[in-house]
Amino acid sequence: MPTPLRIAMIAAECEPWAKTGGLGDVVDALSRALGHVPGATNGPVEVFLPRYRSVAVPARTASSRTVRVPDPMAADGITEISILDIDADGYRLRLVDHPAAFDRDGMYGPPGGGDFADNPWRFGLFCRAALETLRTEPTHPVDILHLHDWHSGPAAIQRDAWLADDPVIGRAAIVMSLHNLAYHGWTGRDELPQLGLVPGGGVLPAGADGVDLIREGIVRADVVNTVSPGFAREALTASGSFGLSDVLAARGDRFVGILNGLDTSVWNPATDADLAAPFSADDLSGKAASRADLLERLGFDPDDDSAVLGMIGRLDPQKGFDLLHDAAPGLLDAGARIVVQGSGDPHLATGFRVLAEREPTRVALIERFDRAMARRIYAGADFFLMPSRFEPCGTGQMISMRYGTPPIVRRTGGLSDSVIDELTQPGEGTGFAFDAATPTALASACKAAMALRSAGGEVWDGLVARGMAVDFDWTSGSAPRYAALYERALAIRRS
Ligand code: GLC
Repeated sequence: MPTPLRIAMIAAECEPWAKTGGLGDVVDALSRALGHVPGATNGPVEVFLPRYRSVAVPARTASSRTVRVPDPMAADGITEISILDIDADGYRLRLVDHPAAFDRDGMYGPPGGGDFADNPWRFGLFCRAALETLRTEPTHPVDILHLHDWHSGPAAIQRDAWLADDPVIGRAAIVMSLHNLAYHGWTGRDELPQLGLVPGGGVLPAGADGVDLIREGIVRADVVNTVSPGFAREALTASGSFGLSDVLAARGDRFVGILNGLDTSVWNPATDADLAAPFSADDLSGKAASRADLLERLGFDPDDDSAVLGMIGRLDPQKGFDLLHDAAPGLLDAGARIVVQGSGDPHLATGFRVLAEREPTRVALIERFDRAMARRIYAGADFFLMPSRFEPCGTGQMISMRYGTPPIVRRTGGLSDSVIDELTQPGEGTGFAFDAATPTALASACKAAMALRSAGGEVWDGLVARGMAVDFDWTSGSAPRYAALYERALAIRRS
C-alpha cells in the first residue's frame, strides 16, 4: 500500500462553519468527496479555517494544540495560537483560534460593508499558523497545500520567502484554486509590514508598491485551477480576467479548469426536510405540493399556474440582479411572478423592495440568507434565474436542475459548461441560455422559456427529466480530477 497523500486545505470559508458564498460549499464538499475517490491515494483531508466569532465550536472538539507562529506585528515576533481539531463530516476541521484577529463581527469586514484594515495581517497570520502547524507534524509530512482565492495567497509567499528549504513545507506542492478573480487582496506598500514583507527584501522587487495576493498565489503555485473549463478560457482574455490574464497565460498547461460538483447528499429533493413534500424524478407530485407551499408563504395565489421565476444570491452586480430588476415590468406584463432572495447591495435591495410593495401578490423579496427558504425556492419556482455577468462556476443552476426547476442562465463561465440550452438544442436541453448581459436578452429568454412551459407535454417533461438526471456529484467527476491534479502537482514539485 502506498502512503496516502496528506492534503491540507487553507481556506477562508467552509460550510456549515463559515460561508458567504460558493467557496464555502466547495471547500466542504470537495474535502468530504476526496475521501471517496475510488483508487485515489489520499487520506482524510484537513481543512484550516479561521475561528471567526460566528463559528459554533461543537462540544466534540477532538483536541487542541498550541503553535508558535512568526507574527510580524508582535513585539517579540512570535504569537502563540491554538489550533482546535474537530472531526467534521468526512474531514478534519482545524480552526485557527486567535481572538485578536478573528473574534469580531464579520469575516472580511464589519457588517454593512468594507474590509478590515488589518486583513493582510489577519490572513497572513492565519496562513502562517497553518504552515507552522503542518511543519511541526513531520511524522506524516503534508504533501499538498490546497489554497483558495486571495485569502490563502500569503501561504504561497511564506513558503517561498521563509520555508523553501523546510523539510516539510518545502517539499509540499501548492495547488491554487481560483473561485473569484474580482477580489485580489491588494496590499499596498504601507500595509506590507503586516505581512512581514519589505520591497527589495527577497520575494518582492525593490520598486514594488504593494502585493497582489491572488496574483502571488497564481505565480508561485505548482499548479493553478479555476472552477470550470469555460471560465478558465475567459480568464485568459483581457476582458474576462480582472487583470490576471498575463500571469495565467504564463502558467501554460499548469492552469486548468475543473467544474465544481454538487454535494448530492446535501441537495436531494427526495430527502429535503424543508420541502412541504419530498419528490423525485419518478414521482413529481411532491414538487407540485412544494410549489403550492412556497406560493402560500410568499402571499402569491397557489392555484395560479402562471410561471414563477426565482433568483437567489448575493445582491451584487456580478450576479445580474439589476438585469432582473430592469426586466421585471415586462416580465410581469407577460404574466410572470418573481421571487428574489438575497442580501448585499442596498441599492439593489431597495429596487426589489419597491417592486414587491407595489406588486405584493406577484413580486417577493426575501432580504436575508435563509437556507430553508432557498430550498423551497429551488423546488417550488418554475424557473431559476442566473443572469450573471461572470460566473466562475455557480451552484444554483445545478441545484435547480436537480430539483426539477429548469435554470435560465447567461452563457458565461461555468454556466455555459453546465446548462444545455433547449432553444438551440431542442430535445437535449436542461435549461435555457442567453448571451447579452441586458434586461432585454434576459426577458426574451424568460418569455421563450415560459412559452415552452405553457405548451407543456413531452417537450417540457423531457427538459425537466434531463435536468434532474444530470450527475453533478463530486465523487463522479470533479473530486477524481482534483485527485489527479494533486498527483501532477506533486510530480512537478518533486522533479
Ligand atoms: C465564487 C464564484 C462562483 C463559484 C464559487 C465556488 O463564488 O463566483 O461562480 O461557483 O466561487 O467555486
